[in-house]
Amino acid sequence: MLALSEISVWFTGKALFDEASFLINKNDRIGLVGKNGAGKSTLLKIIAGLQEPEGGGIFKPNDITIGYLPQEMEHQDGRTVFDEALQAFKPLLELDAKIHVMGDEVAKGENVHSDAYMKLLDDLHEANDRFSMMGGYTMESDTEKILLGLGFNREDFPRITDTFSGGWRMRIELAKILLQKPDLLLLDEPTNHLDIESIQWLEGFLKDYPGAIVLVSHDRVFLDVITTRTIEINLGKFHDYNAPYSRYVEMRVERRTLQMASFENQQKMIEDTEKFIERFRYKASKAVQVQSRIKQLNKVDRIEIEEEDLSSIKFRFPDAPRSGKVVVATSHLTKIYPPKTILEDLEFEIERGDKVAFVGKNGEGKSTLSRIIAGIETYNGTLEFGHNTKIGFYAQNQAETLTGDKTVFQTIDDEAAGEMRTKVRSLLGAFLFGGDAIDKKVKVLSGGEKSRLSLAKLLLTPVNLLILKQKKRLLRRNQNSLILHI
Ligand SMILES: Nc1ncnc2c1ncn2[C@@H]1O[C@H](COP(=O)(O)OP(=O)(O)OP(=O)(O)O)[C@@H](O)[C@H]1O
Ligand SMILES: [Mg+2]
Repeated sequence: MLALSEISVWFTGKALFDEASFLINKNDRIGLVGKNGAGKSTLLKIIAGLQEPEGGGIFKPNDITIGYLPQEMEHQDGRTVFDEALQAFKPLLELDAKIHVMGDEVAKGENVHSDAYMKLLDDLHEANDRFSMMGGYTMESDTEKILLGLGFNREDFPRITDTFSGGWRMRIELAKILLQKPDLLLLDEPTNHLDIESIQWLEGFLKDYPGAIVLVSHDRVFLDVITTRTIEINLGKFHDYNAPYSRYVEMRVERRTLQMASFENQQKMIEDTEKFIERFRYKASKAVQVQSRIKQLNKVDRIEIEEEDLSSIKFRFPDAPRSGKVVVATSHLTKIYPPKTILEDLEFEIERGDKVAFVGKNGEGKSTLSRIIAGIETYNGTLEFGHNTKIGFYAQNQAETLTGDKTVFQTIDDEAAGEMRTKVRSLLGAFLFGGDAIDKKVKVLSGGEKSRLSLAKLLLTPVNLLILKQKKRLLRRNQNSLILHI
């Protein structure tokens, strides 16, 4: 259905992709995996036709429809939730407007016996047929179904989208793409902003999806449920596995073990042959054999061990001042966004070393509670901090607060004070910004790289109560207190 042929992309002298190829077939369910910055989002942009590769090309039929949900996006303001979602049906909406005009004309009933009037009736009839055939009578109920599935309430439908958070606006975009039912669906981390119920709904929807899907996700379960094929991007190459994520992880280990074994066998064979040649080189009686061994050696197709990207974050949190036993205590903590009571009479204590998770549906108040504790939200009731509590807050949209035109180095250097100033490079190195990467502008970083950079920024100041919005078990061994909201 679509072929990527010998795609190459270069950034600042380094190959992101080096003549990499693969095929997407009708009904394929592909999980695209690889580290942050491996090039997953870039590859989706190339398939969607939004970015040109420097080498190679994409071959696809002209009439193929592609739907693309980007990892980060800009939103349009001004419409209600329902109307914005309905934009998925632009041609139908235009046809609908035309039918209205024609209907008004017919209703006027002028010159009813003229040819022009008969033609108008015919046109109207034909337009109505087309409207019905294209799903005009079900577009509203389809839109409703998908919006409800993605977690919207009916009361949200007439609300203007401008007031919704980034996560909710992303859902509207997702709804539009799903409503268009493209032949090929490209989804870049669609579950990032979804709560568990919406993820489950999306799983069900995608499982029955009649087209092909290429999915980028860091959520293993989601990948396992949806995909049947996994393409790994590693150091500029694509590796194709005919299996869902968990099985791919096993297969990769098996493949590597096999590769190592054949590599070692070959090395041994080469060594033995070289020894033989060396030993009998000047012996006339063995001349023929030596010649044949030399030929044999030249013919050997040398097995190469694929390089593996083993980089991982190595970082020790700076020693934070020790806090008292009780870090935070609340009583009768209440938050009202009129007319709604979000939090009511909360009573809890967090002690030093506690790791607490706030869980709940979107909109239940996890972020609000975190912001109250971080001191950036008003509340009623009592909130008390223990001795020496130092709070670090990593908000949901932290990465958005970075300045696009600064370089990675400047971002940290501008924040660092005192002794940390001399350690900016090693801090960045620990967060995997080595070599030239520290001179990159923030705006070209991948989603994961941005998150990593804002985490590094947060950690410049030692804290003993960390409040995070995090999906991964990043900080298991940390000694200090931690609040996770999921
Ligand atoms: N204009 C550019 N100049 C230099 N480097 C760039 C440019 N555009 C992108 N990059 C780099 O290309 C790499 C690939 O980015 P991409 O967004 O495709 O990664 P990704 O695999 O989607 O990562 P993530 O999992 O974090 O979303 C990143 O290291 C990014 O910094
Ligand atoms: Mg990405």
